[in-house]
Amino acid sequence: MNLLTINNVSKRFGQLPVLDELSLEVDEGSVFGFIGKNGSGKTTTMRIIVGLLKADLGEVYIKGKKVDFGQTATNHMIGYLPDVPEFYGFMNALEYLRFCGKIKGMNPADIKLKTSELLAVVGLEESAKRRIKGYSRGMKQRLGIAQALMHNPALLICDEPTSALDPQGRSEILNILSQVRERTTVLFSTHILADVERICDTVGMLEGGKIVFGGKLDEIKGRQRKDRLVVQLEDLGVGALETLLLELRALPYVQRCFRAGAEFTIDVDSVSEDGQQLLRELVARELTVLGFCVQEPSLENLYLDVIK
Ligand SMILES: Nc1ncnc2c1ncn2[C@@H]1O[C@H](COP(=O)(O)OP(=O)(O)OP(=O)(O)O)[C@@H](O)[C@H]1O
Ligand SMILES: [Mg+2]
Repeated sequence: MNLLTINNVSKRFGQLPVLDELSLEVDEGSVFGFIGKNGSGKTTTMRIIVGLLKADLGEVYIKGKKVDFGQTATNHMIGYLPDVPEFYGFMNALEYLRFCGKIKGMNPADIKLKTSELLAVVGLEESAKRRIKGYSRGMKQRLGIAQALMHNPALLICDEPTSALDPQGRSEILNILSQVRERTTVLFSTHILADVERICDTVGMLEGGKIVFGGKLDEIKGRQRKDRLVVQLEDLGVGALETLLLELRALPYVQRCFRAGAEFTIDVDSVSEDGQQLLRELVARELTVLGFCVQEPSLENLYLDVIK
């Protein structure tokens, strides 16, 4: 079932069109990776979903209920972690979560229960009584996720939760997001394809105000061509590599061939038969083959295929 439906939403800032009849659906129980480069409109979309920004055209629905601009009633179903979360630095995490619980109208018993439960989920139990102003960026993001989950939302929206973090911090946030999928649907934005690949089951890529490609990640990967070889040769110099590129392109079983340095990406009809023939060809030319493999399906490769 659709938890979130975005229906032909358009938004412009002055003369600048940002969203152009954007339509998007997020299924209940999924982890949706909302991909797009800087300025593509991810934050704008999320702010429209939580009623902080008014769409020029189109509608957004949460569980079939329409989102209104302003204090929208649909927000009781949403937990939101903005791109630049702000905290009261003088508070500690415990105080902050209790404060958020009160604002959200929760009763004291629930606040107590959720606070201790969520501090454990985001790994902040030991730092719960330290002032937030001394927290690292990663710790602040983890507290931001806990805050967003206080009222048991059906949908957790996180705007680039990993972008400013080092690999360890990123990994911690991704682990938390994949863990909380048990309790809530997750929509998170990023420009890091590897993060999406790690935890999402569904993706949507925003470009030019629309979703340019998207769907279930395993179906997308299943559609990807599996007849692409990647061959790494020793560096023969640009001249020799360019000559080789032309020779490889002329082989009857080579569909397409690209070169990046001494790495060749080669599309063939059949990796098993043509691959062997190609390898024999390279060895016959007395070339040193440093790597020879079938390219694994990946979101990044698919994206490159789509935008080529
Ligand atoms: N309040 C605003 N007034 C004018 N222009 C805006 C406003 N908010 C966003 N924009 C512009 O709209 C475009 C989309 O911005 P948005 O912040 O939604 O992109 P984004 O995908 O979240 O980018 P990033 O990856 O950098 O966070 C940008 O060109 C931005 O400058
Ligand atoms: Mg943004």
